[in-house]
Amino acid sequence: MTRAECDALVVRARAARQRAYAPYSKYLVGAALLGVDGVIYEGCNVENASYGGTICAERTAVVRAVASGCREFRAIAITTSSPKPAPPCGFCLQVMSEFASDLPIILSAPKGAWKLTSIRKLLPMAFVKKDL
Ligand code: THU
Repeated sequence: MTRAECDALVVRARAARQRAYAPYSKYLVGAALLGVDGVIYEGCNVENASYGGTICAERTAVVRAVASGCREFRAIAITTSSPKPAPPCGFCLQVMSEFASDLPIILSAPKGAWKLTSIRKLLPMAFVKKDL
């Protein structure tokens, strides 16, 4: 991923964040997942009055991509409501690792510089298919 490609993906994650449905936590999150097909699959968190029914932005993007027929990814950008770039939760790292063992992850706040990391760095010993 070039710097320009990362910048472009962050723009899409920030736009997706605007569509978050988070009336309970008020913590809006957006994700933009770049498929090998060149399509950017956007996701946002969608909360529920039964709190456990909430789905995070990253999983929304993964589910959207897989349901559209894309299972291989080049990178994901995530924008949270934190003032500094924050990492994805453990559930989302696990779900992303199902489809990409070392996906580049671009973390961003609503404004300012982004930070590049990866699944391997954030979830070094993921539970995967071959462990079953
Ligand atoms: N959330 C995400 O969308 N992604 C994460 O990786 C962490 C948390 C959402 C879930 C919930 O709607 C809100 O942020 C507060 O936890």
